[in-house]
Amino acid sequence: MRSRAGRRGCYIPAPHSIHAIHAHLGVPMDALTTYLEQHRDRFVEDLKAALRIPSVSAKAEHKQDCARCAAFIADHLKSLGMTRVEVVPTAGHPVVYAEWLGASGKPTALLYGHYDVQPPDPLELWQTPPFEPTLRDGKLYARGAVDDKGQVYMHLKAIEAHMKVNGKLPVNLKVVIEGEEEVGSENLAKFLRDRRKQLDADVIVVSDTAMLGPDQPALTIGLRGICYTQIEVVGPVKDLHSGHFGGAVRNPANALAAIIAGLQDAEGRATVPGFYDQVRALTADEQRALNALPFDEKGFIAESGAPIAWGEKGFNTLERTTVRPTLDVNGMWSGYTGEGSKTVLPSFAAAKVSMRLVPDQDPAAIFKAFEAHVKRIAPSGVTVKVKDLHSAPPFLTSPDHPMLEAARRALKRAWTKPPVYIREGGSIPVMATFQETHDLPSILIGFGLDDDQVHSPNEKISLTSYHGGTKSVAYLYEELARTT
Ligand code: BES
Ligand code: MN
Ligand code: MN
Repeated sequence: MRSRAGRRGCYIPAPHSIHAIHAHLGVPMDALTTYLEQHRDRFVEDLKAALRIPSVSAKAEHKQDCARCAAFIADHLKSLGMTRVEVVPTAGHPVVYAEWLGASGKPTALLYGHYDVQPPDPLELWQTPPFEPTLRDGKLYARGAVDDKGQVYMHLKAIEAHMKVNGKLPVNLKVVIEGEEEVGSENLAKFLRDRRKQLDADVIVVSDTAMLGPDQPALTIGLRGICYTQIEVVGPVKDLHSGHFGGAVRNPANALAAIIAGLQDAEGRATVPGFYDQVRALTADEQRALNALPFDEKGFIAESGAPIAWGEKGFNTLERTTVRPTLDVNGMWSGYTGEGSKTVLPSFAAAKVSMRLVPDQDPAAIFKAFEAHVKRIAPSGVTVKVKDLHSAPPFLTSPDHPMLEAARRALKRAWTKPPVYIREGGSIPVMATFQETHDLPSILIGFGLDDDQVHSPNEKISLTSYHGGTKSVAYLYEELARTT
């Protein structure tokens, strides 16, 4: 307990806190807000404890850590007063389930988040170790700080605040925190189908997305889907001397380069036949709304560190990253990549290629078209295999729903600027599954920032986002209760 509140509740606010401003202006603060203000420091300590568990879902060596993280979150949910807390085994990493159903006559929210994280590599680029959360300049650095443990903890701390202040939640709540989001949520669909009835709700709530700027809250109404593939090219049965055999047989690395070069044209368009056929054009209203967004393109490109903006011709950066599909090599390997030189004609080359998809592209159809295209453009003299590693359909929901109105009100209360509706470029595979199993309105209320270094070394969460997010979701539960 390192909160400023102290044991006897004599609270000395930081000079810049909202509490101080309110006190100064003579505006009384409600008990919930006061609790959130008073326990900020401990909320950070609680998050740190979760961030110390290296729950890397992609790596077999971290299987136990994933199980430990699930148990840790489950224990925490129990300590908050949630009932029926379970750690549910799956064919992969466990799912954490909890509920609190004491708000009779009030709506039921289904909260989704993920406790798994991306691998932290390359380790040498971290300023402080990825699983030793460290505060620097009002930011907390660790793998998972914002994606997604930090955002899960916003909800856990909001639940705590309601329970401590009122002894209850304003709405009924079901919580699903999974451990395989970063590897495609392959086993979650079965869990959702098996428990369809138990998971019935009025609204889905997810905090795993971003804001449009540090003081510009946003509600996300669209996410891109994904089709993630691997291309494998085999030539000779073994590596060969590149002098003795060079010139006699096709080099698979050269062949792979030719294939990759044939996937995109000079103007940034994917060349897979039919790739754009199902892309739904924006309506005039959607285009107008997108154009009106206060998107900081310069800052966004600067944050990337790339020399210039580049992408599909005829579209701007915001369109390219949200409402247009893409095709990208995520990695490629072949032959000798060690120190110095080795003269070798490799027997094998491979690349991981992903496509981000938008409505109404269908991942299965896109994979088929992609595989056929790769096979068609593959040069002779090598054998080529294309694997479907994982996929998820795109997600789009309407902003015109009373539940989203409630989320708007919550964000308006917590921030100075009112929220905007955005579509985002990332994917959350479960969103499309939820549409199929539950077909509920979905609130994507996220607090990431462009410079959070998500999936990259030195991932962080800004404390402004953490505390602002916690307050936002605490208010969200109140506002959801007002929808009936
Ligand atoms: N939280 C992200 C998704 C996200 C990122 C939404 C940026 C909005 C903006 C999520 O954890 C993620 O990284 N998803 C993966 C899914 C993939 C592994 C199927 C992604 O988008 O790469
Ligand atoms: Mn995430
Ligand atoms: Mn992620």
